Amino acid sequence: MAEYKVTVTTSATPNAGSFCTVGVMLIGAEGCVSEEFVLGKDERSLRSGSSCVTTLKMPGPLGPVVLVRLRKEGHPGFPDLDWHCEEVAVETPAGEEWHFPCHKWIRTADGAVELRRRAAVTVNTETLQILKDHRARELQAKQQLYRWRTFHEGLPHCIDMATVELLGPNLRYTRQGSGVSVQYVSGFREKTGQWGSLQELGKLFSLNHRNNTVACYVRAHWQEDAFFGVQFLNGCNPLVISRCRHLPPNLPVSSAMLRPFLPEGSSLEQEMECGTIFLADYEVLEGVPANCINGQQHYLAAPLCLLHLGQQGELKPIAIQLQQQPGPLNPIFVPSDSVPDWLLAKLWVRNADFQCHQLVSHFLRTHLLGEVYCTAILRQLPEVHPLHQLLMPHVSTTLQINIQARASLLSAGGVFDRSIACGLQGVPALLRRATERLHYSSLCLPEDVQQRGLDTVPTCYFARDGLRVWNAIHRFVAGLLQVYYLSDLAVQQDSELQAWILEIFTQGFLGRPESGVPQSFQNRKELAKFITMVIFSCSALHSAVNFSQLEFNLWMPNSPPTMPQPPPTAKGTVTEAELLSRLPPINATCSVLTTLTLLSHRAPGYVPLGQYPKYLFTEGSPQRLLGELQTELKALSAEITERNSGLELPYLYLSPELIENSVAI
Ligand SMILES: *[C@@H]1O[C@H](CO)[C@@H](O)[C@H](O)[C@H]1NC(C)=O
Ligand SMILES: *[C@@H]1O[C@H](CO)[C@@H](O)[C@H](O)[C@H]1NC(C)=O
Ligand SMILES: *[C@@H]1O[C@H](CO)[C@@H](O)[C@H](O)[C@H]1NC(C)=O
Ligand SMILES: [Fe+2]
Repeated sequence: MAEYKVTVTTSATPNAGSFCTVGVMLIGAEGCVSEEFVLGKDERSLRSGSSCVTTLKMPGPLGPVVLVRLRKEGHPGFPDLDWHCEEVAVETPAGEEWHFPCHKWIRTADGAVELRRRAAVTVNTETLQILKDHRARELQAKQQLYRWRTFHEGLPHCIDMATVELLGPNLRYTRQGSGVSVQYVSGFREKTGQWGSLQELGKLFSLNHRNNTVACYVRAHWQEDAFFGVQFLNGCNPLVISRCRHLPPNLPVSSAMLRPFLPEGSSLEQEMECGTIFLADYEVLEGVPANCINGQQHYLAAPLCLLHLGQQGELKPIAIQLQQQPGPLNPIFVPSDSVPDWLLAKLWVRNADFQCHQLVSHFLRTHLLGEVYCTAILRQLPEVHPLHQLLMPHVSTTLQINIQARASLLSAGGVFDRSIACGLQGVPALLRRATERLHYSSLCLPEDVQQRGLDTVPTCYFARDGLRVWNAIHRFVAGLLQVYYLSDLAVQQDSELQAWILEIFTQGFLGRPESGVPQSFQNRKELAKFITMVIFSCSALHSAVNFSQLEFNLWMPNSPPTMPQPPPTAKGTVTEAELLSRLPPINATCSVLTTLTLLSHRAPGYVPLGQYPKYLFTEGSPQRLLGELQTELKALSAEITERNSGLELPYLYLSPELIENSVAI
């Protein structure tokens, strides 16, 4: 007679309990299976935070127990609530205690769910056939459930689920409602006309800004060249400009034209050589069809904007050409043009930046790619894989938010369709062009800022803080990989890992070798870089482009979402009084601001970067590495706070304490 003491623990979170019964079976290493015994039939129900203990008598020992099989069943007459199981503990006849962590929801519809003992193990270090089979079965089932689909031709593929209900309880989350009232804009909802004055806009703004100091700063400085420039370094979209060593052939500015805007005695050639000339090129917008709003054709431009970096680190625009093809109908605007001409040119650049910020920097690079990494994990890495455990906390929320975005914001009648220059035709066209231009090096922050020359601009806090955060994540990831992969050969031999990256390459980057994205991993170094990129993109980069959006967009003239008149084809076509008629109509402005306000809410229980569920990384080395990461991030937050206290316009989006662990909004 062998006796096993089995303890089934329900998680302590609210609603974890269920009226159900649960069948439990123990499975030995050689495949011996115990009888199923059923828990929850008596009054010892599965309540939140409770444990059910049972002793199971067997005719003989099972050998080492390697799997626990759970099967949940509804209780007749009671609602069939999902059950959140924390773990199952088994005490063997020899007195050893083994833990089978679960930490997830189990539904009646799931059928048998099998739990494993050890926390993290790769397939090539798996010794028992029964456990290899278990991994394979898990992946087979998940590949049935989580499939790829094409959202639009030429874009990274997405998960084939139309509603969040299909995700099941383990991939869904609830975010508390923002409690923000947008009641006061409802009176503007029907107003299709143009804004009458900046005062009128100011009225809406003061109802909206909720004492946001950055937004108030934006309103006070939006017309200034220095503020226009600084947004390329430390605004909501620091991903566009790069250092310009040679003028692009389609921007025919002459040195003489620009001399008045450069330091005394210097020339454009000299400045380019010193590395103080930067270019913002919105070529990706060329040919993207513009939306029809309130029954009227609206317009897009694909500007080129040249900027000069001064001695004090200030970046100022010195030339703006609104379309890619140079010519007599495509004037090059300069700061000495009339005030309204120059301001209108800058408004067009800000409008282009709005489209690229929302759709390329934010939606494509963080949301859509996050979904690719996540879907590929679900299909190719079993739950015991160390990278499943490391990455899921960063990417799992992308599925729900993206399904919701596709069904609302980006669909017919959504805010892009109704109010933004990139509408139902423009969105896929821009995203397709941006996907073609994605390169792995631009996704890896150290290479990205180096290629764009921002690493040597001391006033680019995005680059400075970003590098620090990247390096902290990288040290943690590289350390963990040393634990789970004892050699480069172990990386090559992890067939699950190789299937994962290949799927990312084919489904996410559409099999384009020009993307530079790896199709396989040869060593730990390559792997550490890729994993760091995934974590950085879904946490830090998302914070940098998301958290800043309301602050920089709330004063609409700083980032007009759409333009109702074509880009000017000559100078002197607009007066100061006419400028407002070039900005979005009243109700389009309001619908964009309402959306941004509703999305801009820091969840009370948000998880900051570097915080993982308690049950992860509990062993010696991973625990130590995580401790080091947390210490480093904390010190960095303090340094950034200190630095910001001396800045007129603080940069806080990459302060680790404010970075959310995942793309949850
Ligand atoms: C603006 O109001 C008009 C008239 O009610 C409506 O047809 C249109 O859809 C509204 N536009 C936006 C962007 O909300
Ligand atoms: C903004 O701040 C002012 C003064 O500090 C205060 O009177 C006002 O109620 C605040 N407004 C909001 C919307 O919080
Ligand atoms: C996104 O930005 C808003 C502010 O614009 C912020 O309230 C929210 O918490 C941010 N979410 C994430 C995931 O960073
Ligand atoms: Fe987002």
